[in-house]
Amino acid sequence: MSESSSKPVLVTCGLPYANGTAHIGHLRTYVPADIFARSLRKEGREVTFICGSDTHGTPIVVNAEELGITPKELVETYHRHFDETFKSLGIYFDAFGTTDDPENHNRTLDIVNKLIEKGYVYPKTIEIAYCPKCNRFLPDRYVEGACPHCGETARGDECDQGCGKHLEPGELQNPVCTICGGPAEYRQQEHFFFKLSEFSDYLMDYLSHDLGGTTNARNYALGWVKQGLTDWCITRNLEWGVKFPGHDDLVVYVWVDAPIGYIAFTEEWAARAGDSWEKYWKNDGEIVHFIGGDIAYHHCIFWPAMLKGAEYSVPTAVVASGMVKIEDKKFSKTRGYVVWVGEDYLDHGFHPDLLRYYLASYTSHTKELNFSWHVLQEKINTELVAVLGNFLYRTMLFAFKNYGEVPDGELEPEVRDEIEKAITEVKAAMSEYEFKRAVDSAMAFASFGNSYFQVNEPWRLIKEDKKACGNVLYNCLHIAKALCLIFEPVLPQTMENAWKELGQKGDLHAAQYSEALVPIKAGTKLEKPQLLFTKLEDDRIAEMEEIANQRVKAADAKKNAAKENDKEPSKSEGMGPAEEAAKSEKAKANKTEQKETLPLIEYGDFAKLDIRVGKVLLAEPIKKSDKLLRVEVDIGEEKPRQLVAGMASYYTSEELVGKYVIVLTNLKPAKLCGVESQGMMLAADDCENIVAALTPDKEVKPGSRIR
Ligand code: 2FM
Ligand code: ZN
Repeated sequence: MSESSSKPVLVTCGLPYANGTAHIGHLRTYVPADIFARSLRKEGREVTFICGSDTHGTPIVVNAEELGITPKELVETYHRHFDETFKSLGIYFDAFGTTDDPENHNRTLDIVNKLIEKGYVYPKTIEIAYCPKCNRFLPDRYVEGACPHCGETARGDECDQGCGKHLEPGELQNPVCTICGGPAEYRQQEHFFFKLSEFSDYLMDYLSHDLGGTTNARNYALGWVKQGLTDWCITRNLEWGVKFPGHDDLVVYVWVDAPIGYIAFTEEWAARAGDSWEKYWKNDGEIVHFIGGDIAYHHCIFWPAMLKGAEYSVPTAVVASGMVKIEDKKFSKTRGYVVWVGEDYLDHGFHPDLLRYYLASYTSHTKELNFSWHVLQEKINTELVAVLGNFLYRTMLFAFKNYGEVPDGELEPEVRDEIEKAITEVKAAMSEYEFKRAVDSAMAFASFGNSYFQVNEPWRLIKEDKKACGNVLYNCLHIAKALCLIFEPVLPQTMENAWKELGQKGDLHAAQYSEALVPIKAGTKLEKPQLLFTKLEDDRIAEMEEIANQRVKAADAKKNAAKENDKEPSKSEGMGPAEEAAKSEKAKANKTEQKETLPLIEYGDFAKLDIRVGKVLLAEPIKKSDKLLRVEVDIGEEKPRQLVAGMASYYTSEELVGKYVIVLTNLKPAKLCGVESQGMMLAADDCENIVAALTPDKEVKPGSRIR
């Protein structure tokens, strides 16, 4: 975003579904968004920071049905949970509503009516999955089948295990009812469509020239627009949701009313604050959406098209975060690779700021973030404790003991320059959504503080020249004050403590970066400092690692027991009930696939398969898909073979390159996401979470036949 703009900025976070507890995957988006909002305020920008719970859609209905409660009761519980969790983490929204609030029902109706009035919505009779056994239509999560684009098992509205594409009702092949597991059929019914296709040119232009944010979100979306957009079915057969105008048996699709929540929550904030929501949504205030990379399609395509069609302002930027891994394993609640914010972190007494620091500084915002207890320990001990904490504590303790107040002194030009440099770098990094870079610059400034202290040897000067020593301490205390301001967006609670110890009276959270250049006042009384950060000891980390290991073991045991008994795993502690419900539905379908026995074949059938050993030379992600990799394999031919492998969720490029793999080489070429696959890499798939590339037991020459 432009550093020179002075427009008000609305910062939003993707709305969490109110059907499960908060985990570290959520925080990957919310913490950087909070840091960004705080930093903009420190630059003097007018900021409104909003979010809320996503309360509609089939997962919530499925989950409530399972628990024998109403969807409203279910979402109220989780809404409270998210609200409290965010506050504990220092993530303070100006409004945190729910998409079931009257403001959102009204705003959704207003927008849908406007789209109808402008001719962007039309009725069409389509095929909808129907379960003859359950005697009901099957919207979204109630149906699973094969994705028409990539063939992976997909749920009704999204191919979340395969190509990631949004799916329209009626598109799934071989549909199966997720309630009873029986085959579904397609029946005709009238639904309402949004003319998304009419917005292709507009979106192409908007995405290419106007939309800011991170390139991952924009590029994905541009790829999809280039492939051609189809109209979008915006109604569903459900009771729970926002009623479609004039049709009491239909609600709007959850992806219509969820983003409209951004407007409704702005209205809720504006009503309370006596401010205007229109300055963002009808005029030229800036709108910055922080989201997970998996919902870029909705935010860069559906959402701007709807807003444009209904004559609202469109987003200025979409900032999409990368995926989260746990101890280098793919994040998975069922396999136990998860860190729950309450149960695994806050309840063990870890300080919220440490996790904020980790999330901001581990890697670039768009890259994959790995959470590891061991890395947390190392980062906290070598960075927060050894650099920032060390400087603040030694400075404040020395000053408190020897002076009890800020001594007389003058800000040295070298110190002033370092502060200016740090602020400039932090602001520039924030404007590019590079939070790691911002933290690194801030930490480099803390290191400067340590060197300044060390080089000037105040412990020697205090005996020889108390005035000169006072001047050194004056500068150190001023650096400490600047550090509080610069680190506040990342470490709000700890820096507030340090600010108070420095005797600063104003509200640190409201103070601006420019305050860092206002010399600290001599004579200000200092408080006795406390250690701001303490070392994370080995035994605490070992304890957490043990808890994590036990969880993975328990998940494995549960899976095995379920396999033996041929029944679903029972509810696991900590797993959101909706996720549990969705998972068990998926497991049912997968099990059918695993158990299916294929007819016997002749040796001749097998002999038709040209299967060879290959060595992976290159593996790289395919832009339009977060599941597929483009792989080049040496199979003993003159040129390497290009394959498209659905491995991106299971292997990094680095893990694959150099590996010996097994390739079906005489499969007819096919294009996947626009890339030709000239064969197929073979892998074992347990149909739950593990996919393992097949590899020969010994190193054999590329091209060796499999017989
Ligand atoms: O994917 C999700 O978790 C959705 N609940 C995000 C909705 S964001 C917005 F569009 F409302
Ligand atoms: Zn697909």
